Amino acid sequence: MSGTSSPIQSFYKNKTIFVTGATGFMGKVLLEKLLYSCSDLDKIYFLVRPKKGRSIELRLDDMFKLPIFHRIHQEKGHVLKKLQPLDGDITMHNLGLTDEQQETLMKEVHIIFHFAACLRMEAKLKDAVELNMVKYNS
Ligand SMILES: NC(=O)c1ccc[n+]([C@@H]2O[C@H](COP(=O)([O-])OP(=O)(O)OC[C@H]3O[C@@H](n4cnc5c(N)ncnc54)[C@H](OP(=O)(O)O)[C@@H]3O)[C@@H](O)[C@H]2O)c1
Repeated sequence: MSGTSSPIQSFYKNKTIFVTGATGFMGKVLLEKLLYSCSDLDKIYFLVRPKKGRSIELRLDDMFKLPIFHRIHQEKGHVLKKLQPLDGDITMHNLGLTDEQQETLMKEVHIIFHFAACLRMEAKLKDAVELNMVKYNS
Protein backbone atom coordinates (compact mmCIF):
# COMPACT_ATOMS: atom_id res chain seq x y z
CA MET A 1 0.00 0.00 0.00
CA SER A 2 1.39 3.45 -0.82
CA GLY A 3 1.80 6.24 1.74
CA THR A 4 -1.65 7.73 1.25
CA SER A 5 -4.80 5.70 1.82
CA SER A 6 -7.85 5.81 -0.42
CA PRO A 7 -11.23 6.55 1.21
CA ILE A 8 -12.04 2.81 0.95
CA GLN A 9 -8.77 1.81 2.63
CA SER A 10 -9.43 4.38 5.38
CA PHE A 11 -12.93 3.02 5.86
CA TYR A 12 -11.71 -0.55 6.37
CA LYS A 13 -8.73 0.39 8.56
CA ASN A 14 -8.97 -1.41 11.94
CA LYS A 15 -12.40 -2.81 11.02
CA THR A 16 -13.53 -6.34 11.84
CA ILE A 17 -15.62 -8.07 9.21
CA PHE A 18 -17.80 -11.17 9.20
CA VAL A 19 -18.34 -13.00 5.89
CA THR A 20 -20.65 -15.89 5.05
CA GLY A 21 -20.19 -17.74 1.76
CA ALA A 22 -16.44 -17.01 1.75
CA THR A 23 -15.73 -20.30 -0.04
CA GLY A 24 -17.97 -19.36 -2.96
CA PHE A 25 -17.25 -17.33 -6.08
CA MET A 26 -18.15 -13.94 -4.65
CA GLY A 27 -16.74 -14.72 -1.21
CA LYS A 28 -13.29 -15.65 -2.49
CA VAL A 29 -13.10 -12.48 -4.59
CA LEU A 30 -14.15 -10.42 -1.57
CA LEU A 31 -11.64 -12.03 0.81
CA GLU A 32 -8.79 -11.54 -1.64
CA LYS A 33 -9.67 -7.95 -2.45
CA LEU A 34 -10.13 -6.93 1.17
CA LEU A 35 -6.91 -8.60 2.32
CA TYR A 36 -4.83 -7.33 -0.58
CA SER A 37 -6.16 -3.80 -0.99
CA CYS A 38 -7.34 -3.00 2.54
CA SER A 39 -4.59 -4.78 4.47
CA ASP A 40 -4.96 -2.50 7.49
CA LEU A 41 -8.29 -4.07 8.38
CA ASP A 42 -8.21 -5.74 11.78
CA LYS A 43 -9.72 -9.16 11.19
CA ILE A 44 -12.05 -11.16 8.97
CA TYR A 45 -14.19 -13.84 10.60
CA PHE A 46 -15.80 -16.15 8.08
CA LEU A 47 -18.26 -19.00 8.28
CA VAL A 48 -17.19 -22.28 6.72
CA ARG A 49 -18.51 -25.82 6.89
CA PRO A 50 -17.01 -29.25 6.28
CA LYS A 51 -18.19 -30.56 2.90
CA LYS A 52 -18.19 -33.88 1.05
CA GLY A 53 -16.08 -35.52 3.76
CA ARG A 54 -13.50 -32.73 3.66
CA SER A 55 -12.67 -30.92 6.88
CA ILE A 56 -12.62 -27.16 7.11
CA GLU A 57 -8.81 -27.25 7.35
CA LEU A 58 -8.46 -29.27 4.14
CA ARG A 59 -10.97 -27.09 2.32
CA LEU A 60 -9.18 -23.90 3.33
CA ASP A 61 -5.73 -25.33 2.51
CA ASP A 62 -7.00 -26.01 -1.00
CA MET A 63 -8.79 -22.70 -1.31
CA PHE A 64 -5.76 -20.59 -0.39
CA LYS A 65 -3.68 -22.43 -2.99
CA LEU A 66 -5.91 -21.10 -5.77
CA PRO A 67 -4.32 -18.64 -8.22
CA ILE A 68 -6.55 -15.83 -6.97
CA PHE A 69 -4.56 -15.84 -3.70
CA HIS A 70 -1.09 -15.99 -5.33
CA ARG A 71 -0.33 -12.27 -5.13
CA ILE A 72 -1.19 -12.27 -1.43
CA HIS A 73 1.17 -15.19 -0.77
CA GLN A 74 3.89 -13.51 -2.81
CA GLU A 75 3.55 -9.97 -1.52
CA LYS A 76 1.60 -9.90 1.74
CA GLY A 77 1.53 -13.36 3.28
CA HIS A 78 1.24 -11.87 6.78
CA VAL A 79 -2.32 -10.62 6.12
CA LEU A 80 -3.60 -14.20 5.97
CA LYS A 81 -3.20 -14.25 9.76
CA LYS A 82 -6.11 -11.83 9.89
CA LEU A 83 -8.47 -14.58 8.74
CA GLN A 84 -10.45 -16.41 11.42
CA PRO A 85 -12.60 -19.30 10.16
CA LEU A 86 -15.65 -20.26 12.20
CA ASP A 87 -17.19 -23.69 11.78
CA GLY A 88 -20.85 -23.12 10.98
CA ASP A 89 -23.77 -23.61 8.66
CA ILE A 90 -26.45 -21.08 7.75
CA THR A 91 -29.22 -23.67 8.00
CA MET A 92 -28.40 -24.35 11.65
CA HIS A 93 -29.79 -22.49 14.64
CA ASN A 94 -27.69 -19.33 15.13
CA LEU A 95 -25.50 -20.46 12.21
CA GLY A 96 -24.25 -23.39 14.32
CA LEU A 97 -22.03 -21.01 16.30
CA THR A 98 -21.29 -21.46 19.99
CA ASP A 99 -22.49 -18.87 22.51
CA GLU A 100 -18.90 -17.71 22.90
CA GLN A 101 -18.45 -17.25 19.13
CA GLN A 102 -21.71 -15.31 18.92
CA GLU A 103 -20.60 -13.04 21.79
CA THR A 104 -17.28 -12.41 20.03
CA LEU A 105 -18.98 -11.52 16.76
CA MET A 106 -21.48 -9.24 18.47
CA LYS A 107 -18.69 -7.45 20.35
CA GLU A 108 -16.13 -7.16 17.57
CA VAL A 109 -17.77 -7.08 14.15
CA HIS A 110 -18.35 -3.77 12.36
CA ILE A 111 -19.33 -5.02 8.88
CA ILE A 112 -21.13 -8.13 7.61
CA PHE A 113 -21.09 -9.54 4.07
CA HIS A 114 -23.70 -12.28 3.74
CA PHE A 115 -22.89 -14.28 0.59
CA ALA A 116 -23.88 -17.77 1.69
CA ALA A 117 -26.66 -18.86 -0.61
CA CYS A 118 -28.03 -21.69 -2.68
CA LEU A 119 -27.89 -20.75 -6.35
CA ARG A 120 -29.55 -23.93 -7.62
CA MET A 121 -32.54 -22.62 -9.55
CA GLU A 122 -34.10 -26.09 -9.59
CA ALA A 123 -34.10 -26.39 -5.77
CA LYS A 124 -37.42 -27.05 -4.06
CA LEU A 125 -38.95 -23.84 -2.70
CA LYS A 126 -38.81 -25.12 0.88
CA ASP A 127 -35.09 -25.96 0.53
CA ALA A 128 -34.35 -22.65 -1.20
CA VAL A 129 -36.05 -20.69 1.59
CA GLU A 130 -34.25 -22.73 4.25
CA LEU A 131 -30.89 -22.04 2.62
CA ASN A 132 -31.34 -18.46 1.59
CA MET A 133 -32.92 -17.03 4.74
CA VAL A 134 -30.79 -16.79 7.86
CA LYS A 135 -32.57 -17.51 11.11
CA TYR A 136 -30.90 -15.78 14.01
CA ASN A 137 -32.27 -15.61 17.54
CA SER A 138 -30.40 -13.71 20.22
N1 LIG B 1 -21.81 -15.02 -8.87
C1 LIG B 1 -22.18 -13.80 -9.27
O1 LIG B 1 -21.79 -13.30 -10.34
C2 LIG B 1 -23.07 -12.97 -8.38
C3 LIG B 1 -23.35 -11.66 -8.75
C4 LIG B 1 -24.15 -10.88 -7.93
C5 LIG B 1 -24.69 -11.41 -6.77
N2 LIG B 1 -24.42 -12.69 -6.44
C6 LIG B 1 -25.00 -13.20 -5.20
O2 LIG B 1 -23.93 -13.46 -4.29
C7 LIG B 1 -24.27 -14.56 -3.47
C8 LIG B 1 -23.19 -15.64 -3.59
O3 LIG B 1 -23.07 -16.04 -4.93
P1 LIG B 1 -21.85 -16.94 -5.44
O4 LIG B 1 -21.82 -16.86 -6.92
O5 LIG B 1 -20.62 -16.61 -4.66
O6 LIG B 1 -22.37 -18.41 -5.02
P2 LIG B 1 -21.53 -19.75 -4.80
O7 LIG B 1 -20.24 -19.70 -5.53
O8 LIG B 1 -22.47 -20.87 -5.07
O9 LIG B 1 -21.21 -19.70 -3.25
C9 LIG B 1 -22.20 -19.96 -2.30
C10 LIG B 1 -21.57 -19.89 -0.94
O10 LIG B 1 -22.58 -20.13 0.02
C11 LIG B 1 -22.11 -21.12 0.91
N3 LIG B 1 -23.19 -21.90 1.49
C12 LIG B 1 -24.20 -22.53 0.83
N4 LIG B 1 -24.96 -23.19 1.71
C13 LIG B 1 -24.41 -22.98 2.94
C14 LIG B 1 -24.73 -23.40 4.23
N5 LIG B 1 -25.79 -24.20 4.47
N6 LIG B 1 -23.96 -22.99 5.28
C15 LIG B 1 -22.88 -22.20 5.04
N7 LIG B 1 -22.51 -21.76 3.83
C16 LIG B 1 -23.27 -22.15 2.79
C17 LIG B 1 -21.21 -22.00 0.07
O11 LIG B 1 -20.39 -22.75 0.95
P3 LIG B 1 -19.81 -24.18 0.52
O12 LIG B 1 -18.54 -23.89 -0.25
O13 LIG B 1 -19.56 -24.83 1.84
O14 LIG B 1 -20.85 -24.86 -0.31
C18 LIG B 1 -20.46 -20.94 -0.71
O15 LIG B 1 -19.44 -20.38 0.08
C19 LIG B 1 -25.65 -15.06 -3.93
O16 LIG B 1 -26.64 -14.45 -3.13
C20 LIG B 1 -25.73 -14.52 -5.36
O17 LIG B 1 -27.07 -14.34 -5.78
C21 LIG B 1 -23.61 -13.49 -7.21
